[in-house]
Amino acid sequence: MAQRTALVTGASRGIGRACALALSAAGNRVILAARDAAKLEEVAAAIHEKGGEAHIAVLDLASLDSIPAAIAEAASKAGPVTILVNNAAITKDTLALRMKRADFEHVLQVNMTAAFVCIQQVLRFMSHERWGRIINIASVVAQAGNAGQANYIASKAGLIGLTKAIAHEMAGRNVTVNAVAPGFIETDMTSVLSAEVKERILSSIPLKRMGSAEEVAAAVRFLASEEAGYITGHVLNVNGGMYM
Ligand code: NAI
Repeated sequence: MAQRTALVTGASRGIGRACALALSAAGNRVILAARDAAKLEEVAAAIHEKGGEAHIAVLDLASLDSIPAAIAEAASKAGPVTILVNNAAITKDTLALRMKRADFEHVLQVNMTAAFVCIQQVLRFMSHERWGRIINIASVVAQAGNAGQANYIASKAGLIGLTKAIAHEMAGRNVTVNAVAPGFIETDMTSVLSAEVKERILSSIPLKRMGSAEEVAAAVRFLASEEAGYITGHVLNVNGGMYM
């Protein structure tokens, strides 16, 4: 089977890093995209050490107009993308009453609109190849709701809707589009939570522990594989039973 090129946004740490390593271990070339070149180089070095091929794309998703050129440049070295993992995201949590409209819009832009722009950049080639995998990283809170995250939850619920819309549009070209909805995963994003909040969340998880970035990456690796070819428009929960 020909080696494919996978693009992972937010690949400098956490779940994105784990996805890049897992997709490389599965035999794909990977493009690592995020803002911090030095951190991306570290991830690329970890992939090279294991015998994989990685390229970096320094990219700020908040700057939507810069996305097409950054992806085109990376693809000119790594080959056109047929596996896209929209993983990068930010939070700006506060109760809706206090939330500034700029913070609402900014989170939607980075988490959802940027994912759409990335999808647009890769659709033409996937369509031409009649093969593609798009995996959007959503969140359990898009399904269950949560206080203090109106912007983040709107963006993640939007990603799930986007997943299903593009899944319909691209099914005829053998391009599958799915979402992975992680629960409570041990990364920088959750390390900022207080011990009290962590305890409260843990008590609501049937498996009684946080998940690892590698456990989310395993689901992404599966959805990107040949074997997952008959799954599209699906939201795969990796949440320890937190939401069923
Ligand atoms: P993280 O905060 O550790 O990593 C986020 C990544 O996105 C980093 O590589 C960061 O550089 C990148 N990023 C952020 N803003 C960017 C921008 N403007 N341009 C380019 N790159 C940017 O987060 P984590 O925990 O690894 O999360 C990964 C995904 O999983 C996110 O979509 C997050 O919403 C989702 N998720 C995480 C959960 C958790 O418990 N950690 C739970 C549910 C969903």
